[in-house]
Amino acid sequence: MITKTMQDAINEQIKNEFYSAYLYLAMSAYFNASNLPGFAGWMRKQSQEEQGHALKLLDYLEDQQAQVVLKAIEPPPAEFKGPADVWQQTLEHEQKVTKMIHGLYELALKENDYATQTMLQWFITEQVEEEKTASLILEQVKRVGESGTALFFIDRHVGKMREE
Ligand code: FEO
Repeated sequence: MITKTMQDAINEQIKNEFYSAYLYLAMSAYFNASNLPGFAGWMRKQSQEEQGHALKLLDYLEDQQAQVVLKAIEPPPAEFKGPADVWQQTLEHEQKVTKMIHGLYELALKENDYATQTMLQWFITEQVEEEKTASLILEQVKRVGESGTALFFIDRHVGKMREE
């Protein structure tokens, strides 16, 4: 069993992960409309990954026989200033999510909730990877500028990163 406070906090994070999925789907649509299919494909995959994060938390609540409460998801932005702006927002968003995960972990520590601490360790590791990837792509996009042949090469390369 987990406490009601922990349950509420995890339910809030389920919503946050679904918001991430929504945000990346919006970014995917923007990139497709901007003729950058590689970036769009990466974002589409990332959106699916975020749904996976939400479901991982949801499954955990079910395993703990806690109550799942799905909340309304805010609409993400539909307009962006350009590719660098999107990748900048991606990095900042992931940094925000890292803080949220750390906040959950701190709560689990305070509550002596060892099971939740263990479950969250996967998310802590995942966030390191997510921030690293977003930062890497942002730096590459910033280096080559917002248009020109080099951007299309990066687009293709980023698209291939997620092809399984
Ligand atoms: Fe679910 Fe991108 O963190």
